[in-house]
Amino acid sequence: HAAECTDIVRHGDKPALAALIAKARLAGETERAALFNAADAARRPYYGKNVYFRGLIEFTSYCKNDCYYCGIRAGNRNARHYRLTAEEIWACAAKGYALGFRTFVLQGGEDPWYTDARICEIVSGLKERHADCAVTLSIGEKSFESYKRYYDAGADRFLLRHETANDAHYRLLHPPELSLAHRKQCLYDLRAIGYQVGAGFMVESPGQTDETLAEDFLFLRELQPHMVGIGPFVPHHDTRYAGLPTPTADFTLVLLSLLRLMLPKVLLPATTALGTVDPLGREKGLRAGANVVMPNLSPVTHRKDYMLYDNKICTGEEAAECLQCLSRRIASAGFIPDFGRGDHADRVE
Ligand code: 5AD
Ligand code: FES
Repeated sequence: HAAECTDIVRHGDKPALAALIAKARLAGETERAALFNAADAARRPYYGKNVYFRGLIEFTSYCKNDCYYCGIRAGNRNARHYRLTAEEIWACAAKGYALGFRTFVLQGGEDPWYTDARICEIVSGLKERHADCAVTLSIGEKSFESYKRYYDAGADRFLLRHETANDAHYRLLHPPELSLAHRKQCLYDLRAIGYQVGAGFMVESPGQTDETLAEDFLFLRELQPHMVGIGPFVPHHDTRYAGLPTPTADFTLVLLSLLRLMLPKVLLPATTALGTVDPLGREKGLRAGANVVMPNLSPVTHRKDYMLYDNKICTGEEAAECLQCLSRRIASAGFIPDFGRGDHADRVE
């Protein structure tokens, strides 16, 4: 069946993709195992058994947007907020560098306090201190010119999940001032500028169907991103989706495999959300075709204030503790922790 799956994810039209996704959702143990093995084999020629470590620095929990699913949305009066100064960000990175990290992800809400000049200063300062490191930004929607400035300041990669490639579904999850068209434009701008680009979506978000997922696959096939971040939607208690059931890891694992078969060279994280819904979620994700993990380097004093969803793991651990825990777990699962830059197979210098 794996060859047939591969053919559909690479060449199938929307109905064929939706039918495949529907079938994969209901697959039994044997079929799932075959799918995971095929995905594991698909990345081998490019990345072997390596798992790339990225140091995540969550530098601001302020956000001007009000995405309906997110715990740090602007309208959440209960959220506690923090911002890291450039010095604090560099200190996190220096700690990460000493632990072996050679790539850092600077993630935050859309926070206008960080003007382009400030972002550029943070990025170029980081590159000056650690010239051998890759810097990834994950700071939301900006203009082409802003993205270009960050790139010229030294940013190498950009993560911006598209969240869903279906218009009606996008509007269900976001307030009217946000649009899928603009989101997609941002991703195309980032690609045109030269970034390694990451898109992605939540799994089992409210309103998601096999059809909207088929559209996600079609969009990703067209965009050909270097990275795709997916993880289960986890309800946050201060959002309109409070009380919805938390999904299991199962469907995310199947989708990780299908994404790996569609984009064999893609860098695919086993996300924190996956580890949140299942204590062995990240290991299972790696076995299903993922090859990236993003341990948290944010200061422990602020971790609990970057709660996008409930019960987020690793919010009490120091960077070093998390790193040791995760690298041990990854090695026992049969993978090789890799602290290098971990560029996309087509972008290795
Ligand atoms: N559950 C899971 N993922 C979430 N994100 C935001 N809120 C949630 C939630 N409740 C994801 C979004 C965003 C990324 C930074 O976190 O996909 O792009
Ligand atoms: Fe963070 Fe295990 S990975 S504590």
